[in-house]
Amino acid sequence: MNPFATEASGQLILALSKGRIFDDTLPLLAAAGIVVTENPETSRKLILATNDPNVRVIIVRASDVPTYVQYGAADFGVAGKDVLLEHGGEGLYQPIDLKIAACRMSVAVNAGFDYASAVRQGARLRVATKFVQTAREHFAAKGVHVDLIKLYGSMELAPLVGLSDAIVDVVSTGNTLRANNLVEVETIMEISSRLVVNQAALKLKRARLQPILEAFERASKTQG
Ligand code: ATP
Ligand code: PRP
Ligand code: MG
Repeated sequence: MNPFATEASGQLILALSKGRIFDDTLPLLAAAGIVVTENPETSRKLILATNDPNVRVIIVRASDVPTYVQYGAADFGVAGKDVLLEHGGEGLYQPIDLKIAACRMSVAVNAGFDYASAVRQGARLRVATKFVQTAREHFAAKGVHVDLIKLYGSMELAPLVGLSDAIVDVVSTGNTLRANNLVEVETIMEISSRLVVNQAALKLKRARLQPILEAFERASKTQG
């Protein structure tokens, strides 16, 4: 049993990633009366205090948020739909679309590459992505044969240096694609971040969690 996140301690642990998820979750926390008193951009600490002695925030990689919550090392967390689809959602209750970190999952190719013809002709495509589950399902549903190449970042580079014909990545303004002479050829799905709650914590710590979840839900209605 994790001594850190036990019910007896009365502590709630929220898992967030640095950057846009942390920044966009702050107003939601404020709506629940919670203020994080340390800044993850300037502190090297991974466990951050809040004005509520019963609530602490842990800073983890975006794709690790579901894992911390699944195992109960965090009671709840905020993760993108992209990340949740790759994780699978096992052991997680996903009550609220927070509407933050909005973007879309898309297929993109070099500006000169005729994607539509390649698909029509039944070509086998090399696709580089961090989102292999989502990409696999998308191309399988279209009946397109693909060789998936797993990357961990900078997907936009792959077609430029001939590693792949296409990428599957998140797009927001399109600036990164444009800067690298890539074009978006398909939107796979709209993405936003979700609150995820450990299923056991939801039962055992409902009294503490419920008011926070309600405040998040109310505040998220004003987003997006
Ligand atoms: P890591 O840095 O650990 O590889 P990451 O790049 O996924 O993780 P973030 O860039 O903070 O971490 O993204 C967190 C979430 O925000 C993503 O899972 C996605 O849902 C969303 N997101 C990613 N890029 C954008 C963007 N450009 N605009 C809006 N939302 C985005
Ligand atoms: C994300 C994503 C794209 C970019 C898309 O990168 O991986 O590269 O945003 O956004 P745009 O359409 O507005 O350009 P991020 O900013 O998270 O940097 P990262 O490579 O550190 O993840
Ligand atoms: Mg990123």
